[in-house]
Amino acid sequence: MSKQQRAKLVVGNWKMHGRLAANATLLRAIAQGAGELPAAVRVGVCVPSLYLAQTQSLLEGSPVVWGVQDVSAFTHGAYTGEVAAPMVSDFGAMFAIVGHSERRAYHRESAELVAVKTQRALEAGLTPIVCVGETLEEREAGSTEQVVGAQLDEVLEKLSAEEAARLVVAYEPVWAIGTGKSATSEQAQAVHAFLRARLAAKGAADVPLLYGGSVKPDNAEELFRQPDIDGGLIGGASLKDRDFLAICKAAASVAG
Ligand code: PGA
Repeated sequence: MSKQQRAKLVVGNWKMHGRLAANATLLRAIAQGAGELPAAVRVGVCVPSLYLAQTQSLLEGSPVVWGVQDVSAFTHGAYTGEVAAPMVSDFGAMFAIVGHSERRAYHRESAELVAVKTQRALEAGLTPIVCVGETLEEREAGSTEQVVGAQLDEVLEKLSAEEAARLVVAYEPVWAIGTGKSATSEQAQAVHAFLRARLAAKGAADVPLLYGGSVKPDNAEELFRQPDIDGGLIGGASLKDRDFLAICKAAASVAG
């Protein structure tokens, strides 16, 4: 099977958006739309953890899977305000995003902390979506590969090959997140090929590699057509059912 024929994965990252009533409308629409997609596209949503129970009750029995946007580096204990990975698992979740650039920047999460969170997610049976990405300054300085390589290596060093094979990795250039300025498909593919080689060296070449950063209905297909882009991590456009489902359809049009 050629790389172009890999299954695609499209995951919404709601960030700190949503309220009970709006969530219900959005989740029902996504569940219905996803039901009409071919099996080669898997759809997920990562919601604020407070809404996990609601998400589980609305999505159970649908083809859509769900998850959270962060987990604690600890399994339990006196860590006020934290949510532990096993708690997330209690609600039937599949995914935990770890190392999103907003957490690295605004919550001072180090590469090492991201690696520990990845381990906690794996131990709890979750699939970590490990985010890596460079800032505009880093790209302009020509250090993109060095930055994303170091971010990925920090995680891979702590994992066995079997554990590494259970990851999803998302390349999200910081300058493309929420800016409306997506990476070009060539820029994204180049970094994905680099990440793929790093993962292959660890024996985890088949890890799904998602692109994130201003993916919209009008650029999704071109991005997803790239041989090493296995889908997308979608922020702003995942909050509108029509846009999100249009992106899922774009994935379907290029999925094997
Ligand atoms: P965006 O966010 O699609 O709004 O750019 C992507 C992300 O941060 O995961």
